Amino acid sequence: MIKPNASIVVLTGAGMSAESGVPTFRGVDGLWEGHRIEDVASPEGFARDPELVHRFYNLRRAALNTVEPNAGHVALARLEREWRGRFLLVTQNVDDLHERAGSEKLIHMHGELRKARCECCDAVFAWTKDLDSGTRCRACGEIGGMRPHIVWFGEFPFEMETIMGALKRADLFLCIGTSGVVYPAAGFAQIAAERPGCHLIEMNLESTAISRQFDEHIIGPVAVELPKLVEQLLAA
Ligand code: OAD
Repeated sequence: MIKPNASIVVLTGAGMSAESGVPTFRGVDGLWEGHRIEDVASPEGFARDPELVHRFYNLRRAALNTVEPNAGHVALARLEREWRGRFLLVTQNVDDLHERAGSEKLIHMHGELRKARCECCDAVFAWTKDLDSGTRCRACGEIGGMRPHIVWFGEFPFEMETIMGALKRADLFLCIGTSGVVYPAAGFAQIAAERPGCHLIEMNLESTAISRQFDEHIIGPVAVELPKLVEQLLAA
């Protein structure tokens, strides 16, 4: 039983947006839309072939225009609005479907497709168009430094201190649609579990690399299961 003023931390992964039509990462062939991960999601890959990396993220950014939040995103926004205790939503997703559904207490720990950053001056911009190696920074005027505001392998995720603080006082940790193989996010369940009395729920289509760390498993699609869970939490 979760107390009505409990502190909730939610972690979402690619499975959250799958029913909206955003592809998940780990296909059976280990490729992301035909590319090796290290070619399109590492600083080394970007240095080697910036145009390939820009094309990859330009396509994914443009694809956001064709998708909408699903009932799971809407349910999480409702939970945030109506919950009386503390609430934090941490997403590994770089799409903007949580905010479009109305979520506000939200951390994009792996960055955002609809933002771009200048490596020369660190300015971050809202960005909906394409990027390429000739894009000029609107802040410092340099050409060649603009990149997607995405955390690549070997880079440090955003806002880790805030996330760690919230996990350490969580009464409920809800882990949704993530395969649990990419750290540090894959270690969040273990941190939450160290708090006495914290209840851990995993929601996924299948069991994952971290399933055994959870007290409760909800097996099923988020657009179906999450509205039901939110209803139960708010009714308690
Ligand atoms: P993955 O693609 O590794 O895993 C997606 C998970 O969602 C799998 O466990 C699926 O079983 C589950 N799933 C798929 N559809 C679902 C649905 N409708 N309902 C419930 N579950 C569903 O994606 P992530 O775990 O998010 O990092 O990947 C983590 C990180 O790896 C990403 O943020 C990305 C990537 O490298 C960076 O870009 C830095």
